[in-house]
Amino acid sequence: MKLTYYGHSCFSVIVGGKTLLFDPFIKYNELAKQIDVNRIGADYILLSHGHEDHVADALEIAQRTGATIVSNYEIVSWFQAKGVKNAHPMNHGGKWRFDFGTVKFVNAVHSSGMPDGAYGGNPGGFVIEGAEGTFYYAGDTALTMDMQLIPMTCPRLNFALLPIGDNFTMGVEDAIIASDFVKCDSIVGLHYDTFGFIKINHAEAVQQFKNKGKELLLPAIGQTIEL
Ligand code: NI
Ligand code: MN
Repeated sequence: MKLTYYGHSCFSVIVGGKTLLFDPFIKYNELAKQIDVNRIGADYILLSHGHEDHVADALEIAQRTGATIVSNYEIVSWFQAKGVKNAHPMNHGGKWRFDFGTVKFVNAVHSSGMPDGAYGGNPGGFVIEGAEGTFYYAGDTALTMDMQLIPMTCPRLNFALLPIGDNFTMGVEDAIIASDFVKCDSIVGLHYDTFGFIKINHAEAVQQFKNKGKELLLPAIGQTIEL
């Protein structure tokens, strides 16, 4: 699968010929100045929770591309009230078959207020299953025992996207345990470096994963990798 990283927790993956864009936060990301939001394609925009650093560019991209917003019921309703036409609400534990494959909305331990203070439901992650393989996007979350349910209920993961920046989410040590819980040794790191509280030492993080026989990928912002 082709994965393009747009900084912070935003990336796109092409599944079944469709572009799935996750948690767009580009325009206000100081580290992603070289990325032009107007050139990002999307057929689906998946939002893990309501925080600004995960939804900031979602409305604009949805309006320009006509992409379908997939998130929890409260977040989807918030975007529909702003005029988004294509939207698909989910809630935890639920799975839906889309034209590219299936999406399961799974548990995350975090919070989820909307940028304007509206209620944003509960935060989640996604397991995406397509003809090319399966991957897990954890969203913002603590390490949680619920991650152990993923390999019990989903096909073997080709890769997992986990937050590693600490302070607001898991840090590297807990992300390594999370990768054990989801039974996946190929990890893409997210939610690091963007602000002061979450700056990390890349070489150290990569080495910590390597010491456990795992690979931590930290693509550059704008870089596309094949997984
Ligand atoms: Ni958050
Ligand atoms: Mn966040």
